[in-house]
Amino acid sequence: MSETFRLEELDGKIALVTFDLPDKKVNTLGQSSLRELAGLVAKLAQRTDLRGLLFQSGKPGQFVAGADLNDLAMLAVITPEQATGALAAGHQIYNQISNLPFPTVALIDGNCLGGGTELVLSMDDRIASDASHTAIGLPETKVGLIPGWGGTQRLPRLIGLNPAIEMITSGEPANAQKAAALGLVFDAVPADRLVEEGRRRIESLQKTGEWKDRREQLRKGLGLDQDQMMFAFAVAEGFVKQKTKGQYPAPLVALKAIREGCNLPLDEGLKAEQKAVGELVGSPILGNLIAIFFMKNRLTRDPGVSDPSIQPRQIHSIGVLGTGLMGAGIATAHARSGIRTAMVDIDDDRLKDGLQRASDVVMSRIRIGRATPEDMAKMLAMLNTSTNPSVFADADLIVEAITENEDAKKEAFRKIAQVMKPEAILASNTSTISITRLAESTPHPDRFVGMHFFNPVDRMELVEVIRGEKTSDETVATVVALAKKIRKTPIVVRDCAGFLVNRVLFPYMNEAQVLLREGVSMEAIDRASTRFGMPMGPITLTDLVGLATTVYAGKVVGAAYPDRSVESPILLEMLQTSGGGKSAMRFYNAPKAKGSRPEPNPAALEIIQKHQAGGQPMDEPEITDRLFLPMLLEATRVLEEGIVREPGDVDMGLILGIGFPPFRGGILRWADTVGAQNLVDKLSKYAHLGKRFEPTESLRKLARDGGSFYPRPKQDAS
Ligand code: NAI
Repeated sequence: MSETFRLEELDGKIALVTFDLPDKKVNTLGQSSLRELAGLVAKLAQRTDLRGLLFQSGKPGQFVAGADLNDLAMLAVITPEQATGALAAGHQIYNQISNLPFPTVALIDGNCLGGGTELVLSMDDRIASDASHTAIGLPETKVGLIPGWGGTQRLPRLIGLNPAIEMITSGEPANAQKAAALGLVFDAVPADRLVEEGRRRIESLQKTGEWKDRREQLRKGLGLDQDQMMFAFAVAEGFVKQKTKGQYPAPLVALKAIREGCNLPLDEGLKAEQKAVGELVGSPILGNLIAIFFMKNRLTRDPGVSDPSIQPRQIHSIGVLGTGLMGAGIATAHARSGIRTAMVDIDDDRLKDGLQRASDVVMSRIRIGRATPEDMAKMLAMLNTSTNPSVFADADLIVEAITENEDAKKEAFRKIAQVMKPEAILASNTSTISITRLAESTPHPDRFVGMHFFNPVDRMELVEVIRGEKTSDETVATVVALAKKIRKTPIVVRDCAGFLVNRVLFPYMNEAQVLLREGVSMEAIDRASTRFGMPMGPITLTDLVGLATTVYAGKVVGAAYPDRSVESPILLEMLQTSGGGKSAMRFYNAPKAKGSRPEPNPAALEIIQKHQAGGQPMDEPEITDRLFLPMLLEATRVLEEGIVREPGDVDMGLILGIGFPPFRGGILRWADTVGAQNLVDKLSKYAHLGKRFEPTESLRKLARDGGSFYPRPKQDAS
């Protein structure tokens, strides 16, 4: 009996195997656990006396999280041949499981992902717990891979071609109810009934002999004709190409594996899968996506402070001042996570609007099946509204999200100080005002911190946790823990103008305006940016953020870094002409019909032309350089100044905060791909543009030493 897999025998000759990786919070399938599993399976294969086998996890609420992370990382640096060898070992074990001389049923409670799902697919049936934490899926394409232990072959044979394509190319897991509807699991039952239902299922599989028929069925190809194949794959390919813009190869390679294998007998299909994996391993995109996976993992474990003795305080209830766009979103995020939340604004109408926004968030989730009416009731029960800040009296933490005005915020802090618990933490969602300066108007600057959410709060995962000069470690650790509790990804940032994300974004937005003045069209600027992989170009982003906010934030950040900012007369004149708010002038008019391109706004074009000087045609690579090199230089300054602790913080901040293309791994990882010396050479071409394009000391040093921002991956795959 192995340590990782416990084997017990239940009454009626039923084996119960419990997967419980020693000293780990979650079960993963690494080389050693696979070896142990192989040993156990070999023994079980001799047990013709057993009537069946149940397989469960010993981790409460956690089934199998997938492959071991270190094995995953290796895939970025090994050769296709090495990868095929490594995968063949997994295939062999899973094939042995699918050939055991008795029916096998997996009992799934919690996350069952990647290699875990492929493991249960090799069994005869599956029963899931109906708990909300149960999620079954194959997320490999999200990290640049494809399911390589049989997932691309067994899933279509089990649930049908189209649902399998959907699950594999999107990487989205199914909850227990959906899994049951798809036929991925036999049933969804309460967790404490899993073993009992599993036994019942084994009995029925035995009685009817169904398990043998199922095995035979799953070993065959799908038997689709030419037309069915053509149609299914043409539609799927079109959809995937549109979604990935050709920048993410994994979903297409997964489709290829399914297409080439689904009509063949299973063992040949599995070979098609192994071959397809070889197309991805060792590629830079896979390396970048896996690196992001690791960076994200590090952030979920990062307590936010380096002193391990610091413990976060428990936060049971919070207050939110200001229930506008951001405040309502922040309150909703907390209330949805079961934290009592009091929202305060200046009058009842605004509170009503705030509450409406909160229910809109949950309503939109109900519409797409991601929440239930009970979730809405639970969220609303956690929300309390008032025009009187005295409702903050028992809050452990208060987030201020009122209008961006330093005096108004300072005045609000003075008022809150009179009603809040003396030991409560005060946080501000300001996007531009110095946290150190704001702290001066609070009674306990050590318990004051920036908690900068992104818009829209329900969809943006990033929270910048900004340390003022006097913010204590305990305050930082508490806010980091709280952000994780409401399912956000916090990044700790030292106070500076623009903090991390807006500071690094600013030079890019600034350069877009300079390019407009040089005669480059708004479409050409946006196109260069989206072709680089950004979700939208800087001019479209300006329209989205709003004219007044862009001008205001630009002024604040520009004033802090005057040597590398250029004021935009275009933005100023647009603002003067139209004013801010709803009437604000936009660069593009809304598209005339759904799906058509937005047209440039003639009024904006007129203003642009007025301020144009020059007009040399510029090719796309040059526009791309002009936009992204200043962004990169700012990112290196943020690191030089210790605003964040490591390159991964910059890259994850930009990926989560502004949608910097994940396939590039972040701006610093992109810089590593280009190479420091190449970047310095590129920059010399733009030296006439001044400080904005002057290599920073850290970049020069990397170029001199042949270094990189990240350690280079080891090529050794042994
Ligand atoms: P908003 O204008 O939508 O909401 C502000 C709310 O604060 C309004 O409901 C207003 O009535 C209320 N308010 C003003 N003074 C108050 C007071 N003394 N007491 C109680 N309530 C008061 O503004 P928004 O966009 O939600 O911004 C709020 C804060 O979040 C600002 O500091 C802004 O810089 C920051 N922020 C905004 C982002 C955005 O995209 N809009 C993104 C990240 C941060």
